[in-house]
Amino acid sequence: MTIKKVGVLGCGLMGSGIAQVCATAGFDVTALEAEQKFLDKGFAGIDKSLAKFAEKPEKSGITPEKAKEIRGRLKGTLKKEDLADCDLIIEAIIENVEDKKKMYAALDGIVKKDAIFASNTSSISITELMTATQRPERFVGLHFFNPVPLMKLVEVVRTIATAPEVFETVFEFAGKLGKVPVRTSDKTGFIVNRLLVPYLLDAIRAYEEGVGSIADIDQAMKLGCGYPMGPFTLLDFVGLDTTYYITHVMFEEFKEARFASPPLLKRLVMAGWYGKKTGKGFYDWKDPANPAASF
Ligand SMILES: NC(=O)c1ccc[n+]([C@@H]2O[C@H](COP(=O)([O-])OP(=O)(O)OC[C@H]3O[C@@H](n4cnc5c(N)ncnc54)[C@H](O)[C@@H]3O)[C@@H](O)[C@H]2O)c1
Repeated sequence: MTIKKVGVLGCGLMGSGIAQVCATAGFDVTALEAEQKFLDKGFAGIDKSLAKFAEKPEKSGITPEKAKEIRGRLKGTLKKEDLADCDLIIEAIIENVEDKKKMYAALDGIVKKDAIFASNTSSISITELMTATQRPERFVGLHFFNPVPLMKLVEVVRTIATAPEVFETVFEFAGKLGKVPVRTSDKTGFIVNRLLVPYLLDAIRAYEEGVGSIADIDQAMKLGCGYPMGPFTLLDFVGLDTTYYITHVMFEEFKEARFASPPLLKRLVMAGWYGKKTGKGFYDWKDPANPAASF
Protein backbone atom coordinates (compact mmCIF):
# COMPACT_ATOMS: atom_id res chain seq x y z
CA MET A 1 0.00 0.00 0.00
CA THR A 2 1.09 3.57 -0.66
CA ILE A 3 1.19 6.31 1.92
CA LYS A 4 0.58 9.78 0.50
CA LYS A 5 -1.30 11.73 3.11
CA VAL A 6 -0.39 11.72 6.79
CA GLY A 7 -2.51 12.91 9.71
CA VAL A 8 -0.69 13.96 12.87
CA LEU A 9 -2.65 14.12 16.13
CA GLY A 10 -1.32 16.76 18.51
CA CYS A 11 1.02 19.53 17.38
CA GLY A 12 3.10 19.86 20.55
CA LEU A 13 6.78 19.16 20.99
CA MET A 14 6.68 15.82 19.14
CA GLY A 15 3.67 16.25 16.85
CA SER A 16 5.03 19.45 15.30
CA GLY A 17 8.38 17.76 14.65
CA ILE A 18 6.71 14.69 13.16
CA ALA A 19 4.52 16.87 10.92
CA GLN A 20 7.62 18.77 9.80
CA VAL A 21 9.69 15.70 8.87
CA CYS A 22 6.75 14.11 7.02
CA ALA A 23 6.20 17.29 4.96
CA THR A 24 9.96 17.59 4.35
CA ALA A 25 9.93 14.05 2.91
CA GLY A 26 7.18 15.08 0.47
CA PHE A 27 4.04 13.83 2.22
CA ASP A 28 0.91 15.95 2.55
CA VAL A 29 0.29 16.48 6.24
CA THR A 30 -2.71 17.60 8.29
CA ALA A 31 -2.06 18.24 11.98
CA LEU A 32 -4.98 18.10 14.42
CA GLU A 33 -4.99 20.07 17.67
CA ALA A 34 -7.44 20.63 20.50
CA GLU A 35 -7.24 24.42 20.39
CA GLN A 36 -6.14 27.04 17.87
CA LYS A 37 -3.51 28.48 20.23
CA PHE A 38 -1.72 25.08 20.37
CA LEU A 39 -1.86 24.79 16.60
CA ASP A 40 -0.36 28.28 16.29
CA LYS A 41 2.39 27.39 18.76
CA GLY A 42 3.20 24.17 16.90
CA PHE A 43 3.36 25.86 13.51
CA ALA A 44 5.49 28.70 14.93
CA GLY A 45 7.95 26.02 16.05
CA ILE A 46 7.92 24.43 12.58
CA ASP A 47 8.52 27.82 10.92
CA LYS A 48 11.43 28.52 13.25
CA SER A 49 12.99 25.12 12.62
CA LEU A 50 12.59 25.32 8.82
CA ALA A 51 14.07 28.84 8.82
CA LYS A 52 17.09 27.53 10.73
CA PHE A 53 17.59 24.68 8.24
CA ALA A 54 17.23 27.14 5.34
CA GLU A 55 20.07 29.26 6.76
CA LYS A 56 22.48 26.44 5.87
CA PRO A 57 21.06 24.85 2.71
CA GLU A 58 24.42 23.24 1.82
CA LYS A 59 24.23 21.21 5.03
CA SER A 60 20.46 20.69 5.38
CA GLY A 61 19.46 20.45 1.72
CA ILE A 62 16.67 22.93 2.51
CA THR A 63 16.80 26.20 0.58
CA PRO A 64 14.38 29.03 1.48
CA GLU A 65 12.28 28.01 -1.60
CA LYS A 66 12.22 24.38 -0.45
CA ALA A 67 11.21 25.49 3.06
CA LYS A 68 8.25 27.32 1.52
CA GLU A 69 7.33 24.21 -0.49
CA ILE A 70 7.48 22.08 2.67
CA ARG A 71 5.30 24.58 4.52
CA GLY A 72 2.80 24.39 1.64
CA ARG A 73 2.32 20.68 2.30
CA LEU A 74 1.36 21.33 5.94
CA LYS A 75 -2.16 22.09 7.11
CA GLY A 76 -3.55 22.53 10.61
CA THR A 77 -7.07 21.73 11.76
CA LEU A 78 -9.30 21.46 14.82
CA LYS A 79 -11.73 19.09 13.05
CA LYS A 80 -11.21 15.31 13.06
CA GLU A 81 -13.22 15.06 9.81
CA ASP A 82 -10.32 16.74 7.96
CA LEU A 83 -8.29 13.58 8.51
CA ALA A 84 -10.82 11.29 6.78
CA ASP A 85 -8.69 10.65 3.67
CA CYS A 86 -5.33 10.13 5.42
CA ASP A 87 -3.39 6.92 4.66
CA LEU A 88 -1.47 7.02 7.93
CA ILE A 89 -2.40 8.59 11.26
CA ILE A 90 0.43 9.29 13.71
CA GLU A 91 -0.84 10.15 17.17
CA ALA A 92 1.29 12.37 19.43
CA ILE A 93 -1.18 13.80 21.96
CA ILE A 94 -0.44 13.90 25.68
CA GLU A 95 0.79 10.69 27.34
CA ASN A 96 -2.55 9.71 28.84
CA VAL A 97 -4.11 6.38 28.02
CA GLU A 98 -7.75 7.45 28.34
CA ASP A 99 -7.27 10.56 26.18
CA LYS A 100 -5.47 8.53 23.54
CA LYS A 101 -8.12 5.77 23.48
CA LYS A 102 -10.91 8.35 23.21
CA MET A 103 -9.11 9.96 20.29
CA TYR A 104 -8.58 6.63 18.46
CA ALA A 105 -12.16 5.51 19.02
CA ALA A 106 -13.48 8.76 17.56
CA LEU A 107 -11.16 8.66 14.55
CA ASP A 108 -11.81 4.99 13.82
CA GLY A 109 -15.25 5.86 12.51
CA ILE A 110 -14.02 8.85 10.50
CA VAL A 111 -10.74 7.81 8.85
CA LYS A 112 -10.93 5.41 5.87
CA LYS A 113 -10.92 1.72 6.76
CA ASP A 114 -7.56 0.78 5.17
CA ALA A 115 -5.62 3.63 6.80
CA ILE A 116 -2.91 2.67 9.27
CA PHE A 117 -2.98 4.02 12.84
CA ALA A 118 0.32 4.62 14.65
CA SER A 119 1.12 5.96 18.10
CA ASN A 120 4.20 7.89 19.17
CA THR A 121 3.60 6.92 22.81
CA SER A 122 6.71 6.49 24.93
CA SER A 123 5.31 3.99 27.38
CA ILE A 124 1.66 3.09 26.87
CA SER A 125 0.91 -0.36 25.48
CA ILE A 126 0.22 -0.25 21.74
CA THR A 127 -1.98 -3.31 22.27
CA GLU A 128 -4.15 -1.41 24.73
CA LEU A 129 -4.49 1.59 22.39
CA MET A 130 -5.33 -0.73 19.50
CA THR A 131 -8.36 -2.09 21.39
CA ALA A 132 -10.04 1.31 21.06
CA THR A 133 -10.37 0.65 17.31
CA GLN A 134 -11.80 -1.94 14.94
CA ARG A 135 -8.48 -2.18 13.04
CA PRO A 136 -6.05 -4.10 15.30
CA GLU A 137 -4.12 -5.52 12.33
CA ARG A 138 -3.53 -1.99 11.00
CA PHE A 139 -2.14 -0.56 14.25
CA VAL A 140 1.54 -0.02 15.14
CA GLY A 141 3.81 2.05 17.35
CA LEU A 142 6.00 4.64 15.63
CA HIS A 143 8.24 6.11 18.28
CA PHE A 144 10.24 9.20 17.31
CA PHE A 145 12.86 11.00 19.40
CA ASN A 146 13.16 14.62 20.45
CA PRO A 147 13.99 16.88 18.60
CA VAL A 148 12.33 14.97 15.76
CA PRO A 149 13.91 16.88 12.85
CA LEU A 150 17.40 16.06 14.17
CA MET A 151 17.15 12.65 15.82
CA LYS A 152 17.74 9.75 13.43
CA LEU A 153 16.12 6.88 15.29
CA VAL A 154 12.53 5.67 15.00
CA GLU A 155 11.32 2.57 16.84
CA VAL A 156 8.69 0.70 14.84
CA VAL A 157 6.57 -1.39 17.19
CA ARG A 158 4.43 -4.41 16.36
CA THR A 159 1.76 -6.02 18.49
CA ILE A 160 0.70 -9.65 18.25
CA ALA A 161 -2.14 -8.45 15.99
CA THR A 162 -0.17 -6.23 13.57
CA ALA A 163 -0.32 -7.55 9.99
CA PRO A 164 3.25 -8.15 8.69
CA GLU A 165 2.64 -6.09 5.51
CA VAL A 166 1.37 -3.16 7.61
CA PHE A 167 4.48 -3.35 9.79
CA GLU A 168 6.77 -3.39 6.73
CA THR A 169 4.88 -0.47 5.10
CA VAL A 170 5.42 1.66 8.20
CA PHE A 171 9.05 0.52 8.53
CA GLU A 172 9.66 1.60 4.93
CA PHE A 173 7.80 4.87 5.54
CA ALA A 174 10.15 5.69 8.45
CA GLY A 175 13.11 5.15 6.10
CA LYS A 176 11.55 7.57 3.59
CA LEU A 177 11.59 10.24 6.32
CA GLY A 178 15.38 9.94 6.35
CA LYS A 179 15.23 8.14 9.69
CA VAL A 180 16.85 4.89 10.74
CA PRO A 181 14.07 2.53 11.87
CA VAL A 182 14.55 -0.37 14.27
CA ARG A 183 12.10 -3.20 14.82
CA THR A 184 10.73 -3.83 18.28
CA SER A 185 7.68 -5.39 19.89
CA ASP A 186 5.06 -4.05 22.25
CA LYS A 187 6.94 -4.35 25.55
CA THR A 188 6.69 -1.30 27.82
CA GLY A 189 9.41 1.25 27.04
CA PHE A 190 10.36 -0.55 23.82
CA ILE A 191 14.18 -0.55 23.45
CA VAL A 192 15.33 2.96 24.30
CA ASN A 193 13.11 3.91 27.25
CA ARG A 194 13.45 0.46 28.81
CA LEU A 195 17.15 1.26 29.21
CA LEU A 196 17.09 5.07 29.41
CA VAL A 197 14.35 5.72 32.00
CA PRO A 198 16.01 3.81 34.90
CA TYR A 199 19.23 5.74 34.12
CA LEU A 200 17.45 9.13 34.27
CA LEU A 201 15.63 8.22 37.50
CA ASP A 202 18.91 7.02 39.02
CA ALA A 203 20.46 10.41 38.23
CA ILE A 204 17.65 12.11 40.22
CA ARG A 205 18.13 9.65 43.11
CA ALA A 206 21.91 10.30 43.04
CA TYR A 207 21.20 14.03 43.32
CA GLU A 208 18.71 13.44 46.17
CA GLU A 209 21.36 11.42 47.99
CA GLY A 210 23.94 14.19 47.61
CA VAL A 211 26.24 12.34 45.20
CA GLY A 212 26.77 15.56 43.27
CA SER A 213 25.14 18.78 42.14
CA ILE A 214 22.87 18.88 39.09
CA ALA A 215 25.56 20.65 37.08
CA ASP A 216 28.29 18.22 38.20
CA ILE A 217 26.23 15.10 37.50
CA ASP A 218 25.42 16.46 34.03
CA GLN A 219 29.04 17.37 33.37
CA ALA A 220 30.28 13.99 34.62
CA MET A 221 27.98 11.97 32.37
CA LYS A 222 28.75 14.19 29.37
CA LEU A 223 32.50 14.06 29.67
CA GLY A 224 32.84 10.67 31.35
CA CYS A 225 30.55 8.75 29.04
CA GLY A 226 30.69 10.86 25.89
CA TYR A 227 26.94 11.56 26.03
CA PRO A 228 25.83 14.70 24.13
CA MET A 229 24.04 16.00 27.24
CA GLY A 230 23.75 15.11 30.91
CA PRO A 231 20.67 13.41 32.44
CA PHE A 232 19.14 16.58 33.95
CA THR A 233 19.40 18.54 30.70
CA LEU A 234 17.86 15.58 28.90
CA LEU A 235 15.06 15.33 31.48
CA ASP A 236 14.25 19.02 31.01
CA PHE A 237 14.20 18.52 27.22
CA VAL A 238 11.94 15.46 27.38
CA GLY A 239 9.52 17.16 29.80
CA LEU A 240 9.21 16.21 33.48
CA ASP A 241 5.43 15.73 33.18
CA THR A 242 5.94 13.24 30.37
CA THR A 243 8.73 11.47 32.28
CA TYR A 244 6.60 11.31 35.45
CA TYR A 245 3.73 9.76 33.55
CA ILE A 246 6.11 7.24 31.94
CA THR A 247 7.38 6.16 35.37
CA HIS A 248 3.80 5.27 36.37
CA VAL A 249 3.23 3.14 33.30
CA MET A 250 6.60 1.38 33.59
CA PHE A 251 6.32 0.79 37.34
CA GLU A 252 2.80 -0.56 36.91
CA GLU A 253 4.08 -2.98 34.24
CA PHE A 254 7.27 -4.26 35.89
CA LYS A 255 6.72 -3.51 39.62
CA GLU A 256 10.45 -2.84 39.94
CA ALA A 257 11.81 0.00 42.12
CA ARG A 258 14.13 1.18 39.34
CA PHE A 259 11.08 2.38 37.39
CA ALA A 260 9.47 4.24 40.34
CA SER A 261 9.40 8.05 40.40
CA PRO A 262 11.84 9.68 42.84
CA PRO A 263 10.08 12.14 45.21
CA LEU A 264 11.82 15.17 43.69
CA LEU A 265 10.45 14.43 40.22
CA LYS A 266 6.92 14.29 41.64
CA ARG A 267 7.40 17.61 43.43
CA LEU A 268 8.70 19.38 40.34
CA VAL A 269 5.69 18.15 38.40
CA MET A 270 3.27 19.18 41.19
CA ALA A 271 4.83 22.67 41.08
CA GLY A 272 4.27 22.86 37.31
CA TRP A 273 8.01 22.87 36.58
CA TYR A 274 7.90 20.63 33.49
CA GLY A 275 11.33 21.53 32.10
CA LYS A 276 12.30 23.58 29.06
CA LYS A 277 8.72 23.84 27.76
CA THR A 278 7.54 25.72 30.87
CA GLY A 279 10.81 27.61 31.32
CA LYS A 280 11.80 25.80 34.51
CA GLY A 281 12.60 22.25 35.60
CA PHE A 282 15.92 21.05 36.96
CA TYR A 283 17.27 24.16 35.26
CA ASP A 284 15.89 27.66 35.11
CA TRP A 285 15.98 28.08 31.33
CA LYS A 286 16.24 31.84 31.66
CA ASP A 287 19.56 31.18 33.36
CA PRO A 288 20.57 27.59 32.57
CA ALA A 289 24.10 28.09 33.87
CA ASN A 290 22.62 28.30 37.35
CA PRO A 291 20.66 25.06 37.83
CA ALA A 292 17.88 24.81 40.40
CA ALA A 293 19.48 27.08 42.97
CA SER A 294 16.35 26.90 45.09
CA PHE A 295 16.12 23.13 45.75
N1 LIG B 1 8.75 14.63 24.78
C1 LIG B 1 9.51 13.65 24.29
O1 LIG B 1 10.75 13.70 24.32
C2 LIG B 1 8.84 12.46 23.65
C3 LIG B 1 9.63 11.56 22.91
C4 LIG B 1 9.01 10.48 22.27
C5 LIG B 1 7.64 10.31 22.40
N2 LIG B 1 6.90 11.18 23.14
C6 LIG B 1 5.45 10.97 23.20
O2 LIG B 1 4.82 11.85 22.30
C7 LIG B 1 3.52 12.21 22.79
C8 LIG B 1 3.39 13.71 22.87
O3 LIG B 1 4.38 14.22 23.72
P1 LIG B 1 4.88 15.74 23.62
O4 LIG B 1 6.15 15.79 24.37
O5 LIG B 1 4.80 16.21 22.22
O6 LIG B 1 3.72 16.46 24.48
P2 LIG B 1 3.20 17.97 24.36
O7 LIG B 1 2.49 18.23 25.63
O8 LIG B 1 4.28 18.89 23.91
O9 LIG B 1 2.14 17.89 23.15
C9 LIG B 1 0.91 17.23 23.23
C10 LIG B 1 -0.08 18.01 22.37
O10 LIG B 1 -1.26 17.24 22.23
C11 LIG B 1 -2.35 18.14 22.20
N3 LIG B 1 -3.57 17.44 22.54
C12 LIG B 1 -3.91 16.94 23.75
N4 LIG B 1 -5.13 16.36 23.67
C13 LIG B 1 -5.54 16.52 22.39
C14 LIG B 1 -6.71 16.15 21.70
N5 LIG B 1 -7.71 15.49 22.30
N6 LIG B 1 -6.80 16.47 20.38
C15 LIG B 1 -5.80 17.11 19.75
N7 LIG B 1 -4.65 17.49 20.37
C16 LIG B 1 -4.55 17.19 21.68
C17 LIG B 1 -1.99 19.22 23.23
O11 LIG B 1 -2.71 20.40 23.00
C18 LIG B 1 -0.48 19.36 23.00
O12 LIG B 1 -0.19 20.40 22.09
C19 LIG B 1 3.37 11.48 24.13
O13 LIG B 1 2.70 10.28 23.92
C20 LIG B 1 4.82 11.23 24.55
O14 LIG B 1 4.96 10.12 25.39
C21 LIG B 1 7.47 12.27 23.75
